[in-house]
Amino acid sequence: MKKILITGGAGFIGSHLTRLFVTKYPEYQIVNLDKLTYAGNLENLKDIEGCSNYTFVKGDIADLAFLHSLFNQYDFTAVLHCAAESHVDRSITDPLAFVTTNVVGTVSLLQAAKEHWKGNMEGKLFYHISTDEVYGSLGAEGFFYETTSYDPRSPYSASKASSDHFVRAFYHTYHLPVKISNCSNNYGPFHFPEKLIPLCIHNIINHKPLPIYGKGENVRDWLYVEDHVRAIDTIFHHGRVGETYNIGGHNEWTNIDLIRELCKQMDAKLGRPAGSAEQLITFVKDRAGHDLRYAIDASKLQHELNWTPSLQFEEGLSKTIDWYLANTDWLKNVTSGNYQKYYEDQYNKR
Ligand code: NAD
Ligand code: DAU
Repeated sequence: MKKILITGGAGFIGSHLTRLFVTKYPEYQIVNLDKLTYAGNLENLKDIEGCSNYTFVKGDIADLAFLHSLFNQYDFTAVLHCAAESHVDRSITDPLAFVTTNVVGTVSLLQAAKEHWKGNMEGKLFYHISTDEVYGSLGAEGFFYETTSYDPRSPYSASKASSDHFVRAFYHTYHLPVKISNCSNNYGPFHFPEKLIPLCIHNIINHKPLPIYGKGENVRDWLYVEDHVRAIDTIFHHGRVGETYNIGGHNEWTNIDLIRELCKQMDAKLGRPAGSAEQLITFVKDRAGHDLRYAIDASKLQHELNWTPSLQFEEGLSKTIDWYLANTDWLKNVTSGNYQKYYEDQYNKR
């Protein structure tokens, strides 16, 4: 039986990943370790919390003594490491928090796994979930390949790049069995509304301005979150140890085109006159060091493991909007309290 530690399972991608593994593999025992920061929400997992193969543990991945006791208690055979500070704008305001969780936290987990698996690495796996942002920023042409040199440019991407380097260092130095995947921008249900798509969905519902950084010309490659966790499942079970796999949607949008598509779909779904949401678009001061373009080449994953995205973007966006419109209580809960203060600080200074 596999005993899997998923970190950050109460967050956006982690909750989809946890749900997939708990429901698809009832024979696996899944422990979800999450600190429940502002981004972690057990409501995201309500539908599986009663499953007999699922356990939630609250704790910090940067607390090594605690990790040792957790490994001793559960005797994990694999780690799916998703926990992170994930928002670029927050990393610009508070870079040290990103070093603590993304770097110290990842090295602590690696250290706990290494110590616990010492002398018997057979069948063990440390899977690190990372981002395309480690590769830096593209111009109008080209793609990120697994072989592209790292060139992180925000405190967030620098912390993720550092964590990727440590994972590879543990593979080479201690023969810890590792896999890494670097994915492009995800979207879908349970996405925290500090990120572009859910923030704009929330603001359109509430007739609030849609803040577009700079001229809205930056390009992101969007992937539906369930396609991402399906790719992780494939790599976890069939990918080669020591390898890196890029995951992406081949789905590039400038921010302004994406928000116009979102506005169009939301007007129709909310029964508002065409063009009303677009009037909320407001160009605001650009993000410091704003990466121009990300675009993933995922052909290694496609050729080696036969993975391709399942959804067209317009369809995925429509499903996402429907989820938010059906879950306004979830939105209300996560946008109250601390979030209000973050929002005022973040956007009033622009
Ligand atoms: P998220 O911010 O929604 O969730 C992060 C989770 O980690 C939260 O539940 C939080 O409580 C938990 N956490 C934070 N610090 C912790 C700590 N010290 N100890 C234990 N738990 C802690 O993030 P997300 O968007 O779901 O991203 C998950 C992972 O995927 C991250 O590693 C991120 O770098 C990577 N990633 C994200 C995207 C994206 O578009 N969101 C794309 C590619 C890769
Ligand atoms: O590429 C993968 C990364 O995608 C992940 O590693 C990160 O964890 C995730 O947060 C995401 O990073 P981005 O910075 O690309 O996502 P965000 O939703 O913050 O911004 C998307 C684009 O929209 C980016 O060009 C900045 C812009 N933007 C964002 C916000 C929050 C705006 O124009 N206005 C906004 O208010």
